[in-house]
Amino acid sequence: MTDRYQDFVSSPLGKLLVKNLGLPNPVPLDRYVDGSPLVDGTVVVGGAGRVVEHLPGVLDTLGIKSATTTEPDTRYKGLVFDATGLTDPTRLVALHDFFAPLMRSLERCARLVVIGTPPELVIGGERVAQRALEGFTRSLGKEVGRGGTSQLVYVADGAEGAVASTLGFLLSPKSAYVSGQVVRIGLTTAKPAEDPDWQRPLAGKVALVTGAARGIGEQIARVLARDGATVVGVDVPQAGDDLIRVTKELDGDYLTLDITAKDAPQRIAHHLSRTHGGVDVVVHNAGITRDKRLANMDEGRWSSVIGVNLVAPERITAELLAQKLIRDNGRIIGVASIAGIAGNVGQTNYAASKAGVIGFVDSLKDDLKKGVTINAVAPGFIETEMTAAVPFATREVGRRLNALSQGGRPVDVAETIAWFANPASTAVNGNVVRVCGQMMLGA
Ligand SMILES: NC(=O)c1ccc[n+]([C@@H]2O[C@H](COP(=O)([O-])OP(=O)(O)OC[C@H]3O[C@@H](n4cnc5c(N)ncnc54)[C@H](O)[C@@H]3O)[C@@H](O)[C@H]2O)c1
Repeated sequence: MTDRYQDFVSSPLGKLLVKNLGLPNPVPLDRYVDGSPLVDGTVVVGGAGRVVEHLPGVLDTLGIKSATTTEPDTRYKGLVFDATGLTDPTRLVALHDFFAPLMRSLERCARLVVIGTPPELVIGGERVAQRALEGFTRSLGKEVGRGGTSQLVYVADGAEGAVASTLGFLLSPKSAYVSGQVVRIGLTTAKPAEDPDWQRPLAGKVALVTGAARGIGEQIARVLARDGATVVGVDVPQAGDDLIRVTKELDGDYLTLDITAKDAPQRIAHHLSRTHGGVDVVVHNAGITRDKRLANMDEGRWSSVIGVNLVAPERITAELLAQKLIRDNGRIIGVASIAGIAGNVGQTNYAASKAGVIGFVDSLKDDLKKGVTINAVAPGFIETEMTAAVPFATREVGRRLNALSQGGRPVDVAETIAWFANPASTAVNGNVVRVCGQMMLGA
């Protein structure tokens, strides 16, 4: 869907009005182009702690140019600061000392990342200082401007070597619409992939994507296939033509069924087992809305939304786990929503289902074995047929009420899912990452 306001502010008259009236100024965001370098520019690395010594090597493996000193009159594409050494609040001034002088030396769509220690794993002043990083990074996300983003990555003690896939995502245009997020990288007993292939990390892997016929699901299928996966798309029979078109184009496979059908989990399991011998990545994307204020909502609207968005993902996952079809280092990925975090008028059913998806992540994250992880994305306002149906005024509010002043694209959700799916993301478990341009709602 075109964003006419964004087109208008790029015109000479639009630029003038934005400047003089202080109107929102959505700048075109950089997005990743297959085959191009991950980062087009230099990333400055600073700070003192457990992680900083690993950073130049990690960035080098990802093909990202880094520098530990800065030059006058030079612009930078990213800043990464290791704050794990900040063991009491008086030391937080180091954030100011690193970032403040560089804020005017950033290129468009710059990427700022602070690395900390999960506060719950430390005590006293260190816990206070590490918790303070959240307020800092979220504010930075609102200040950076010109399409820039800011994130906080909490790295558990001992997980310093597991940051590559996360930094590759957060420093690159793949994270175009992700800002103000707190990501946790934990300890894992699973062996890291040897010599990971950063261009086609999913080569040889099988990915199941529900709701793959259109919208966000179609883009998830495309991005996972770009990364090398064989995609098995699932959608309802009515969407069969589109599903076949998409999966054929990607040399993938498909299954038409309603995921709420009683035998859907068994049919999916049977298909994956017989045709592919198992599955590596399971993306529960299919979702519906049936909006009405609760007072006017019939039971059918309630049950259909909970059935598609929450009960079906749970039943399918349970069946795949019971039949041991999710292979070692596998991925389970849910699609929640900002509505599940902030709530929304007319969406008690939808918000309950999407908050339930977050609960689903929590319920499984500590029990999965052999490197299998579970995470979820929580999209904000993404330009799809679902949001095109939203009334104009609500749609405009949804688009502008975020730090990037625009809606996201399906590919932004898909790239976030591809980061979770990456075999090198084994230590990224139990996260719910918002793809919302740092929307004010529920923040
Ligand atoms: N678009 C947004 O702004 C937004 C925001 C937050 C969350 N989401 C979530 O992202 C996901 C995708 O949304 P979208 O905007 O692409 O929606 P969409 O309506 O464009 O696509 C959803 C797909 O799921 C399929 N589907 C629906 N019910 C199904 C069922 N019972 N069995 C099998 N397939 C079924 C549909 O046929 C369709 O192809 C959903 O879970 C949605 O809740 C979207």
